Amino acid sequence: MKEPDFQAWSRDVAARMETALAEFLPSQQTVPMRLHDAMRYATLGGGKRVRAMLVFGAGEATGAAPRRLEIVASAVEMIHAYSLIHDDLPCMDDDVLRRGKPTCHVEFDEATALLAGDALQSLAFQLLADHRLAQGGDAQLEMIKLFAAACGSRGMAGGQAIDLDSVGRGITLPELEFMHILKTGALIRASVLMGAQCGSESGGAAIAAAELERLDRYAKCVGLAFQVVDDILDEEGDSAVLGKTAGKDKAAGKPTYTSLMGLAEAKRFALELLEDSREALAGFGERAERLREIADFIVHRRR
Ligand code: IPE
Ligand code: IPE
Ligand code: MG
Ligand code: MG
Ligand code: MG
Repeated sequence: MKEPDFQAWSRDVAARMETALAEFLPSQQTVPMRLHDAMRYATLGGGKRVRAMLVFGAGEATGAAPRRLEIVASAVEMIHAYSLIHDDLPCMDDDVLRRGKPTCHVEFDEATALLAGDALQSLAFQLLADHRLAQGGDAQLEMIKLFAAACGSRGMAGGQAIDLDSVGRGITLPELEFMHILKTGALIRASVLMGAQCGSESGGAAIAAAELERLDRYAKCVGLAFQVVDDILDEEGDSAVLGKTAGKDKAAGKPTYTSLMGLAEAKRFALELLEDSREALAGFGERAERLREIADFIVHRRR
């Protein structure tokens, strides 16, 4: 049987995620209803689901159980949704448009948006603790520790702090790279590594350290590439296509890859990272085809 092409596969991942997230999020009828409404508003019905694709792509490369991948991908997408809600708040990027809709604090209110983000974060960790996901308790604990580090002050939250602190300041390229690796790369890296470590329902050996190391290299490349392309799209993309307001970085005085390198050089750098990510997967053969396709999508996307 012919494998589905990337478009069909990514549509399928998005549909699975919609069902899984709708199941895991408290219903709108559950008290406090407004908070649950806001959590569902920000998480369901939109987004490219790139991080979920990476969980599934890595799991396909290592033969992991689809239901486990669904749970891990749901946790990652919840953290991502929380990070976007907070990123859009007036105290951060002050954005009014996200995924083609009013941002969470505009649709609800700032306090509700803040709490929706908080609650999504704890729900994500609850999901990972509630289900059997790895080959043994110790392996699962390692997975949760990795995820916590990726979200925290030495991961996404730390990157966001550096981002805010760097507004209007001339930062160096290594400083910018560090910021991007933290604010966006960390969660993308965790998506790949957790997907790879899920394992099959029937047990079996844990993934070999050397394979995990190569997937880690892949993940670091696509994680950085993702934010480089986000910076490029902010500069030359279209708000209607992006579903968020273009041109905000320059207006806010944010240092980005395009402000530091220029558009052409930033594009060249994204292609270089794509090449590096493919090299990291060289030993995997067919098993990693989805991961190659996802890397390609990340670099060549228009939104
Ligand atoms: C946007 O992420 C925020 C960044 C980390 C750059 P995405 O571009 O993945 O947002 P959605 O999920 O598709 O809306
Ligand atoms: C956001 O980066 C990164 C996180 C949410 C962690 P940006 O501020 O560039 O994301 P967009 O452009 O608003 O989606
Ligand atoms: Mg931001
Ligand atoms: Mg932003
Ligand atoms: Mg951006």
